[in-house]
Parts: sequence; structure tokens; C-alpha cells
Amino acid sequence: MSYPKTTHLMARGAEFLGTEHAILCGAMSWVSERNLVSAISNAGGFGVIACGAMTPELLDTEIAETRKRTAKPFGVNLITMHPQLFELIEVCKRHGVSHVVLAGGIPPKGSVEAIKVGGAKVLVFAPTLALAKKLLRSGGDALVIEGSEAGGHIGPVATSVLAQEFLPALAEEHVVFVAGGIGRGEAMAGYLEMGASGVQLGTRFACASESIAHPDFKKAFFRANARDAVASVQVDPRLPVIPVRALKNKGTEEFTAKQIEVARLLDEGKVDMGEAQLQIEHFWAGALRRAVIDGDVESGSIMAGQSVGMVTKEEPVADIIAQLMEESEAALTRR
Ligand SMILES: Cc1cc2nc3c(=O)[nH]c(=O)nc-3n(C[C@H](O)[C@H](O)[C@H](O)COP(=O)(O)O)c2cc1C
Repeated sequence: MSYPKTTHLMARGAEFLGTEHAILCGAMSWVSERNLVSAISNAGGFGVIACGAMTPELLDTEIAETRKRTAKPFGVNLITMHPQLFELIEVCKRHGVSHVVLAGGIPPKGSVEAIKVGGAKVLVFAPTLALAKKLLRSGGDALVIEGSEAGGHIGPVATSVLAQEFLPALAEEHVVFVAGGIGRGEAMAGYLEMGASGVQLGTRFACASESIAHPDFKKAFFRANARDAVASVQVDPRLPVIPVRALKNKGTEEFTAKQIEVARLLDEGKVDMGEAQLQIEHFWAGALRRAVIDGDVESGSIMAGQSVGMVTKEEPVADIIAQLMEESEAALTRR
């Protein structure tokens, strides 16, 4: 199949990624491992390994195993607050990883430079236009804007608004990918027409046939509607918790209890703010693992975006990408 109009609009993004289509599968902790990442890249998209809380040794193995499964380019997503960030960058460098995505906060001093010394391209996230400009000026090669419809950790602003704010200001000069709430090709076409170089999806790929997520995790996705994917609430104003969007269950309630417990430890001076926030992040990582790997969909965290209602069955990655491209092409042709 050929998709001339979509391919034309994606040309800059595809060239930047070294792929056929400028469609990234955003890193999803525990889900975006060797199997899903290689499947995405083999299908002409761009897979990204979620390093999450992995040690450098584990990341080393994951990259090597992904390489065995695909000769196509893929990226590695590193969380900026990881205590061994610079060792992880070294691992990427040793493997000649072509693209590193820095997520979870402002990149610490020297990190962007350290990645670029190895020749890799750096993708950054930015919650505000001012910060986006700064990061692109100081070495970021491309930007991902991610709206609050997305699964996982989210910002407060919807994708539709971010796109209107960022794309007219940045898309002419820079490669910008749009993420959050994209479930069909028509939406993808819309953002491409606004100047995006490509898109990033997570929720739509989480339950692909090649995803190792537990069958019960996948079933929860197939059953859920958009309104079931809710953002966590912050219970204590002193404890700034980055909201997480996940399917409503006992785990989302347990998170509220966890926040109250950590706030009490703060009150009693038993932890400082950094430690308090780390405890919250570890809570999520553990809860997500329980849902994805063990299939504990009651108290685990089933992170999912609002596009979850459009995920109704297990499908191979190649079919999902083909659908997105076909829907986009049909939409652009109708206009
Ligand atoms: C289960 C799950 C886990 C995620 N984990 C991460 C992560 O570890 N790091 C990250 O940068 N983004 C993470 N995300 C966000 C995705 O990379 C992606 O940007 C997002 O899913 C796009 O929005 P969508 O879900 O509406 O398609 C996660 C998303 C989901 C659904």
C-alpha cells in the first residue's frame, strides 16, 4: 500500500527517525521491551525501549536483545531523575543507539551533551513553549508534545491546545511529534496538517499481539471506555505529585492512601521532599509492573490514555500501523 499524502507530510519526521513512517510507539515501562519495540520498528514505525528504573546492566541486555530482533532503528527512553542517568547514556553510546528520548523532567546539566558526543539524536519533552525553545536551542534535536489525554504521567493541558500553541511557533524550523489521545489516522492527519512531523502513540500499541502485557491487562483495555482512564488526584498541596492517567480500580484508591502516608512522613521529618517524590515514583513503577507482568488488574496500575476506548482487540503492530496510515490517507484525500 502507498500513502502518498500522509508520507509527504511525514517526510521530515521519517527522515529524522530513519523510518518508513513517522509513527513512534512511546516508551511504556514494562511494555516497551525487546518484543514490542522490535515489532514496531520492523513494521516501519519507531520503537522506543522504556528504560524506566532498569539498571545499566539490564538496559545493556535489553538493547542487545532488541538488536537481535530488528535491523531497523529504534530509540531508548531514559528518565531524567534516574540516579544512574549518565551510566545509562554510556550504555546507549556503547551500543550506538541512534536516538535517545529524555523524559520525566528537565534534562540535567551535561546530559544532552553526553548523548550527542556519541552521535545520537536527542528527543525532549517540554510542558511550555518557553522551555521547548530553550531545550531546542541547547541541543535538543526534536520535541515531543504530549497532552493530558495520554496514558502514564501527564501534564495539565490537552493535546489539541498544545498543538495550537506549539506547532505554529516551532514546526517550521523544528521536528515536532504530537502525542496524547491519538487513536485513529484522521487525528494523526490533523496534527500533520498543522505542521507536526509525526506522531507518538502508546495506548493504541500497548495490547498489540507482540506486546508481552498479561492477558488480563489486555482484557481490561478491551473492556474500558475513555471515561475509565482517569488522572490521579493530588491530596496534599505540599507534595507535588505528577498526575498519572490509568484505568480506575482499587490501585488508584491505594495511590491516594500512599500519598497520605508519604505526606505524614514529610510532616514527621522522616523523609525529605526528594525522597518523598521518589517513594511515589517507586509506588507507580511497582504497581504498573504488577498489572502488566503479573496481570493484577485490581490493585496494579493499568496506565492507559483516553484513546483506550478505541482499543477493542489484540492486533499485530503492522495491522495497527496500516490502519492508521489508511485512515490518515483517506482523510487527507477527502479534503
Ligand atoms: C502503560 C503506559 C506506560 C507508560 N510509561 C511511560 C514511560 O515509562 N516513560 C514515558 O516517557 N512515557 C510513558 N508512557 C507514555 C507513552 O510513552 C506515550 O507518550 C503515551 O502513551 C501517548 O499517549 P496515548 O497513550 O494517548 O497514545 C506510558 C504510557 C502507557 C499507556
